[in-house]
Amino acid sequence: MTVTAVKPVAQTIGSKRRVTILGSTGSVGCQTIDLITRNPEKYEVVALTANKNIDKLIEQARLLSPELVVVGDESHYQSVKDALANTNIAVGAGAKAIIEAASADADWVMSAIVGTAGLPGTLAAARRGKTVAFANKETLVCAGPLMMQLVAEAGAKLLPVDSEHNAIWQVFDFERREAMSRLILTASGGPFRTASREVMAQMTPEQAVKHPVWSMGAKISVDSATLMNKALEVIEAHFLFQMSPEKIDVIVHPQSVIHSMVEYTDGSVLAQMGSPDMRIPIGYCLAWPERMETPAAKLDLAKLGQLTFENPDPVKFPALRFAREAMHKGGTAPAILNAANEVAVQAFLDKRIGFLDIERVNAAALNGVATAPLTDLEMLAETDKQARAFAEQVIRQL
Ligand SMILES: NC(=O)c1ccc[n+]([C@@H]2O[C@H](COP(=O)([O-])OP(=O)(O)OC[C@H]3O[C@@H](n4cnc5c(N)ncnc54)[C@H](OP(=O)(O)O)[C@@H]3O)[C@@H](O)[C@H]2O)c1
Repeated sequence: MTVTAVKPVAQTIGSKRRVTILGSTGSVGCQTIDLITRNPEKYEVVALTANKNIDKLIEQARLLSPELVVVGDESHYQSVKDALANTNIAVGAGAKAIIEAASADADWVMSAIVGTAGLPGTLAAARRGKTVAFANKETLVCAGPLMMQLVAEAGAKLLPVDSEHNAIWQVFDFERREAMSRLILTASGGPFRTASREVMAQMTPEQAVKHPVWSMGAKISVDSATLMNKALEVIEAHFLFQMSPEKIDVIVHPQSVIHSMVEYTDGSVLAQMGSPDMRIPIGYCLAWPERMETPAAKLDLAKLGQLTFENPDPVKFPALRFAREAMHKGGTAPAILNAANEVAVQAFLDKRIGFLDIERVNAAALNGVATAPLTDLEMLAETDKQARAFAEQVIRQL
């Protein structure tokens, strides 16, 4: 079956939209809840999931009274169950229960679990034909073709939450694909944009997670510092918009006001702009096809004065080259790169390796783990396991 990227057709929201949030305690999850609590007449929450942060999960459950809450880490099950004993909220635990939450009777699902842990829930929601707002870019990076096929077959709707993809989605001409010559993803450049390689080598996790513009979870913040986040986003854009890799460019734009652009064959460039606040793209997905008020600051261009741009430095930041290599190899290569990166970032956060070792692990896995055509989810899981074991081995030898 051939799958083409199409703009999903939407119905306007009549009654309350029933929503589930996978990864509700994270940065994206909490911002989604912030918007929901500002519009209680429009949304009701069906299920919430977290992994370990049960205090936040319990607080959210008491606030929103969902039908189900799930904690990924099963050792926390009893504590959550006890805390919610005097409510009607069902409690589940473990990976299977997260799939149940994703499959529950909601029509809109936010996929905001970080890393490949988000894959089963995202797939389960898509399989049931739901509208899936996906922040979890790792799903598309690893399983792009399988995911797009599943979405088409199930009649699901995929709404990109990542600010860059959300921006492109707003200015992409789904009816006239041939009229578009290039997608241009903007990158803030991360906290080490102007640092030398020598300085980068000494950077600590505390410094790496301090993003100059965006406030995000630890993993994506480190990915922003290495530019792996942009590398993953290029792969995500390739699968989501079905544009060939050579038609996807990256430009560094430190103010993060232009969230991405589409260049048309006549030379027109359409951009989506806004203050760097994730509640804008999250709100776009939550209210879609309508628009909602968000508390994000309105853009004051005169106050900003200037917007600047520069090409990414390929020597200081090899991650974008890794993305191109992975797309060129195809098949399981993006999943190998993603799995190695998750292991390397965690090792860096745990202070087992240095900042520049992350790229060494990624390069080694991309070259050292055999790539194969991606046929099904079982082989994806096996590849993920192999790449993680390989990355661990590289880390032990550093
Ligand atoms: N943050 C942003 O601004 C932003 C922007 C664009 C895209 N994204 C993407 O959105 C996703 C989430 O990012 P984030 O920054 O919100 O991450 P985060 O703050 O680290 O939150 C991650 C969420 O996933 C849950 N989780 C982690 N490991 C899990 C596991 N093994 N099983 C089940 N749940 C698990 C966490 O639960 P606990 O809290 O209990 O650990 C938390 O709810 C990522 O894919 C990221 O690339 C984020």
